[in-house]
Amino acid sequence: MAASEYEARLSTYLNGAAACLALSIGRESGLLKVFMEPHEPMTIPEIASKTNLKERYIQELLGCLVASSIIEIDEASVKYYLPDELRSTLVRVMTFQALVDFSIQRKEDVKACLKMDGPKGYSGQTFPRYGEILSNILCVDLETVLEEEIFSNTPDVKQKLETGIDFVEFGCGMGPVIIELASRYPNSRFIASDYSPEAVAAVSKTIENMGLKNIKAQQADLYQLPDDWVGKFDVVYIRDCLHDMGSPSKGAKGLVKVMKDDGVLLLVEVVIKGDNHRENKEDPFAIQFFIFSTTVCVPESLCQRDGIGLGCTAGLNKMKGIIEQAGIPMSNVEIYPRKSASFQYLFVCRKK
Ligand SMILES: C[S@@+](CC[C@H](N)C(=O)[O-])C[C@H]1O[C@@H](n2cnc3c(N)ncnc32)[C@H](O)[C@@H]1O
Repeated sequence: MAASEYEARLSTYLNGAAACLALSIGRESGLLKVFMEPHEPMTIPEIASKTNLKERYIQELLGCLVASSIIEIDEASVKYYLPDELRSTLVRVMTFQALVDFSIQRKEDVKACLKMDGPKGYSGQTFPRYGEILSNILCVDLETVLEEEIFSNTPDVKQKLETGIDFVEFGCGMGPVIIELASRYPNSRFIASDYSPEAVAAVSKTIENMGLKNIKAQQADLYQLPDDWVGKFDVVYIRDCLHDMGSPSKGAKGLVKVMKDDGVLLLVEVVIKGDNHRENKEDPFAIQFFIFSTTVCVPESLCQRDGIGLGCTAGLNKMKGIIEQAGIPMSNVEIYPRKSASFQYLFVCRKK
């Protein structure tokens, strides 16, 4: 690669980082809110009056957002707007932008962990807003998550939920998916579990506020499961969690242990394209996921007992190996890339 091309590439990343910072300030200050709601093109004084923010700063931030084609400007360079058809995309992508912000805030923690004599890692749930950020990513289009991770590829599960089954989720975080299921399927019984007491307390509060009687939140570590959970569940659901565990293999064995013989395990995992760095150069999400893995997943795993720090970048073959080691042959596994989030795969695993 020529030095000029290399410089242009580096410059693209600096521009991206700058645009990301403008988005972050825009989201947290309320500036972007006016563009996320239906609106007519607005002048800067109009935006200032709607947001109660200073015109001079709005002007400079909009300069960045217009130059990066995130916000549009009219021919006369006076009025700013976001076309209606792009609004929901901005809203959805901003939930991931919050994860980028969270990652940036972990910079000093990662620097400390990198040192030979530094800590092994840290747990995300101990940081304020971590659970809320992940939950917002799910809630921005919960219907699609339910469709792609539960309903469309396992119609038998939908039917059984209506009749009444035992359903458990591990690593549920704030529990948006399982809480929604519990509210839709009153005949079924749900357990929302996470090993983090902070997460379990938050889920319990939501359940109580919603007055749901068919779901309870329980702290559970997949390595040390209650005896009466063995072979108990018709559906075992876990999303974006196995790779965060200290020992994903041990965790996967726990998942299989609690399934009924005719039960199903719905495992959702980030899977980027390749099995190594060279192959991953082809993956459009690799840049983001390697940094999320560095700041969120690897430290979460390494701070646990016997943590191996698998990370969310392990690749498809490693995930298959973990499932097989847990006792589910690949012939009993159906694998579906998610349509709306191609970096996530659903593994539908059955004992027979
Ligand atoms: C990346 S978050 C995913 C949360 C949620 N499932 C989602 O998709 O947004 C991973 C979750 O796994 C939980 N977790 C990590 N290690 C665990 C373990 N050993 N046993 C149970 N849960 C664990 C964390 O507390 C965290 O809530």
